[in-house]
Amino acid sequence: MADDWIRVAAVDEVPEGTVKAVEAGSTPVAVVHTCGEWFAVEDVCSHANVALSEGEVEGCTLECWLHGSRFDLRTGKPSGPPATEPVPVYAVRVQGGDVYVSLTTGPDSANTVSNQEPTS
Ligand code: FES
Repeated sequence: MADDWIRVAAVDEVPEGTVKAVEAGSTPVAVVHTCGEWFAVEDVCSHANVALSEGEVEGCTLECWLHGSRFDLRTGKPSGPPATEPVPVYAVRVQGGDVYVSLTTGPDSANTVSNQEPTS
């Protein structure tokens, strides 16, 4: 079992309905607390190189601020154009008041990417 959980934030830093930009190793990650759950996606829109964490949390989605594609936080898939590709989704764990992200333990392995350097 992978054991590469990286602490990225305190629970208090990400109130329900908000998103926070963090770094997991060298990977930019948007941590989202919404729908009573925690989500983490790569903090780069799949349409252009902008931070999704600067967009709006809408239900269980995160909307890109630049062109308005809305990404499902469970799957990373955009619900509409102009983005057509999903963003990588990462597993999130909350423990002892802290939020951890794993870059290799995706909730949906179909969206797990392998283009990240291992943190070793
Ligand atoms: S940059 Fe995100 S939809 Fe265009």
